[in-house]
Amino acid sequence: MKTILQVNASILSNEGQSTRLANEFVAGLREDGKLIVRDLARDPVPHLDAERFGAFTTAQENRNEKQKQIIAYSDLLIDELKAADVIVLGLPMYNFGVPSTLKAYFDHVARAGVTFRYTEKGAVGLLTGKKAYVFAARGGMYQGTPRDTQSPYVRDFLAFLGITDVEFIYAEGLAMGETSRDAALSKARSRIEDLLPAYA
Ligand SMILES: Cc1cc2nc3c(=O)[nH]c(=O)nc-3n(C[C@H](O)[C@H](O)[C@H](O)COP(=O)(O)O)c2cc1C
Repeated sequence: MKTILQVNASILSNEGQSTRLANEFVAGLREDGKLIVRDLARDPVPHLDAERFGAFTTAQENRNEKQKQIIAYSDLLIDELKAADVIVLGLPMYNFGVPSTLKAYFDHVARAGVTFRYTEKGAVGLLTGKKAYVFAARGGMYQGTPRDTQSPYVRDFLAFLGITDVEFIYAEGLAMGETSRDAALSKARSRIEDLLPAYA
């Protein structure tokens, strides 16, 4: 039985186009799997600040009560990732980048000694053996151009944690008229149809 972690980053939660596509994909996957949904609009992750990062870098035996709470919350997010065989990310583009809620989430799951470790050869990700699907929804067109700031960043970040098997499914041109939007959504849905048989 596979465990699926769905992370929704749309400010519109289930009404976002990225979430809708992620939901459609997950509905096709779910048959006998366990689903964990982390909705970053409904339950926003706090910004990383000095206090929170200080908790991450304080040895377990020296943590005060507040630091223990901060660690427990970060551990909860990380445990969801650790449990997942398949990670599904709904990724809107907002103002030329990833949603700030997703950045805050990333900042809470990148923990030295927990999700990655430093070696003489550089950082090594510890969350291996997972497959990730990223549903990228955008008003304009960026895929394959230097203006696509999201795809390389998200790919690099996931790889840093050891998640290297990542597929992006794009719905672009959603704000470029009805024809463009319908075509983008059909293309993304057709890709979902192609992907699902692997999980049948
Ligand atoms: C605040 C905001 C900023 C946006 N900025 C961009 C942008 O920089 N580039 C772009 O192509 N689309 C932009 N869009 C359009 C979104 O990418 C598009 O609406 C997409 O569907 C968002 O994903 P969602 O529906 O899952 O929330 C923006 C939308 C909003 C609400």
